[in-house]
Formats: sequence, C-alpha cells, structure tokens
Amino acid sequence: MNNNLLKTACICFVFSYFLFSCNAASYNVVRFGARADGRTDSSQAFVRAWRAACASRSSSTVYIPRGVYMTKPVVFSGPCWSRILFRIDGTLVAPPNYWDMGNSGFWILFSKVSRLTVHGGVIDARGAKFWACRRSGSRCPPGVRSMSFLWSSNVVVSGLKSLYSQLIHLTVSNSNNILFEHLNVIAPSRSPNTDGIIIQSSTGVTIRNSLFRTGDDCIAVGPGSKNIWMEKIACGPGHGISIGSLGNSLNEAGVQNVTVTNAIFSKTQNGVRIKSWARDSKSYAKNVEFRNIVMRAVDNPIIIDQTYCPGNRCPRQTSGVEVSNVRYSNIKGTSTTVEAVKFECSVSRPCRGIQMRNIRLTTPNRATTSTCENARGWTSGLVWPRSCL
Ligand SMILES: *[C@@H]1O[C@H](CO)[C@@H](O)[C@H](O)[C@H]1NC(C)=O
Repeated sequence: MNNNLLKTACICFVFSYFLFSCNAASYNVVRFGARADGRTDSSQAFVRAWRAACASRSSSTVYIPRGVYMTKPVVFSGPCWSRILFRIDGTLVAPPNYWDMGNSGFWILFSKVSRLTVHGGVIDARGAKFWACRRSGSRCPPGVRSMSFLWSSNVVVSGLKSLYSQLIHLTVSNSNNILFEHLNVIAPSRSPNTDGIIIQSSTGVTIRNSLFRTGDDCIAVGPGSKNIWMEKIACGPGHGISIGSLGNSLNEAGVQNVTVTNAIFSKTQNGVRIKSWARDSKSYAKNVEFRNIVMRAVDNPIIIDQTYCPGNRCPRQTSGVEVSNVRYSNIKGTSTTVEAVKFECSVSRPCRGIQMRNIRLTTPNRATTSTCENARGWTSGLVWPRSCL
C-alpha cells in the first residue's frame, strides 16, 4: 500500500469512528448502575442513562441489554436535543410489592418527548397480586399503567411485549404522530381493567400488526382522539375495540376519523363498539370506519351503546353525544348471542349516517337479529342479520 492510500484510509477510519461516536452514542444502562439480577432497583440507573441520551447533541441510544431489571416508577422526560432509540433487549419487571409503585398512576412514563423509538423488550408489571387485592375489597394502592406517552410526538413503539399490567398496559395522551407495531399485549381474561391501549386527546395514532389478549378493551379510543388507524389487529380475549366511553362531561372533545381494518376478534365481549354515557354532552363520534373484520364467537359483534350509566349517575338524562357517519363493511363470523347487531342510540341525538355493507354474522343454532333504537342510515350488498336501519 502506498503511503498516500494508507494516510487516506487512516483519516477515513478516524473520521468514521468520530462520526459513529457522535452520531450514535450508546448509553448502556448497566454502565449507569442497572443490575440485571431481577431484584436491584434499577430505576435511577435508567433515568441517568436517559438524561445522558437526552442531553446528547446528536442521535443516541439508551440500551438495556439482556437480563431482568427491576424498576420502580420511572419518568423519562424531554424535551431532548436529538433523536433517541430506546432499545430494550432485556425484561423490565415491577417491584414484587405493589405498594412500591406509589401513587403517580404510572410505571414507565415518557413525557414531552419527540423523535423517540422504543424497540423490543418485555415489560412485566406482575399485576396478579394487585388484581387479587382489588378483588378482595381490601385497601389497595391506585395502581399504575405500564407504559405511557404524555405530551409526546413522533414516537414509534415496535416489538414491545407487555405482560400482566396492573391497570392499562399502554396509554397515549395529549400526543401526536405515534405508531405502535408488532406489539404483544397480554393479561388474563379475568384481570380487571387491564385494557391494551387507551388513546385520548391525541392526533395521528396508528396501531398495526399487533396482538391483544386482555381483561378489558383491547384498544379504547377516548375523547379528543383524531386520525386513529388500527390495522391487522388480533383481539381476544378482551372487551373488543371501543370508541368511548364518550360524553361523561358536558364540554368534552369529540372523536373523529377512526379506522379499524383487517382485524380479528376471538371470544371477546364486544367486537367493534361505540359507547357513550347517558349524560348531557357536546361530544361526538364521527367519520368512523370498521371494515374487513372477522368475528369468532363474539358476544356483541357490532354495537353502539349510548345508555352507559354505571352507578346511576345520569338521572333523567340521555346521551348528548352525536354519532354520525359510521361505516361497517365486510364483517363476517359468529356471534354467541342472537343480537349480533345492536344500535342503541340516544333519544335526544339519534345516530345518523350508519352504513352497512356486506355483513354476515351468524350463531350456530338460531337466526341472528339486529335492533335499532334511534338509528338512521342505509345498507348495501348483503347484510345479515337483516338490517333494522
Ligand atoms: C384520517 O386518518 C388517517 C390516519 O391517521 C389519515 O391518513 C387521513 O389523512 C385522515 N383523514 C382526514 C380526512 O383527516
């Protein structure tokens, strides 16, 4: 090799090394004191690694290597200087005593973060003892959501496995442009309030190629949600995919532009549901589409319920939530109840623009029915049970 070539190679090497280290700094939580022994509280180490990454002027990685790390509630807060890859090869577990989760309501919280990717990993909130406490009726702490995104934008969560949450597995609130993909979300069918994902006051949330087996809603789209896309979702057991509950308060933000496509529901309580309180409200649900859906032994495959009122908190009220422009198409499969289609809309604000096309929902022995209360719309193609619109 002549001298010049060697010199160039050398400079290139040094240059690329420099580029590598400043473009892709990696902050391994073990170097910040995390212990992969499943017992030592690693939350402070996680936070220190996060702060280092967050202060980095170029994109960086927070790295959690293989192993089991116990962590109490942690807050990863921004704003940060640059893009962060939060790469989890290991498993994060909750402390064995649920009282150690405190009162914040959160376990792993990302707040005011933008340009973040959470990749891989298992988070196990070990909820069983907490559920037992709640069932027993004794005094229990409020419980935590496993992973939450607040005031965040441009976030990707890919390949995460969330197990046995105390309450909701994942929440998104006051955020925009959030993508979840290749999730595995698992809790027993009888675990209370272990919803898969709850979205509220957020715009542009996509959930795709993901599996939910939970004790409550697989996905719930709450007030103030807009441009929500759910594709290739397997749900069940669980309570299905729900828009709502809406209209608990008078001045609540509505929901619009929600799509569920290519979903399969297995042994769920509901399939696709829109649910509102029977209370006065200015809220609404509009421009909703449910299409290409398979139901397998679902109790209420298609349901709009505007009479929700646990605890009798709606004296002489009807739902003020306006449900309009809801399209159901290519929905096939089996119902466990005869009433496969149920539209129980508000007396004071009937549902408008309900469209049904190519529906076939059956039960093994008897003919299925559909019921409409205060629902208006039209059908096309084959619709079974026969439409009541
Ligand atoms: C509805 O939401 C989808 C998915 O987020 C988005 O691509 C589309 O542009 C939105 N449509 C309207 C009319 O806002």
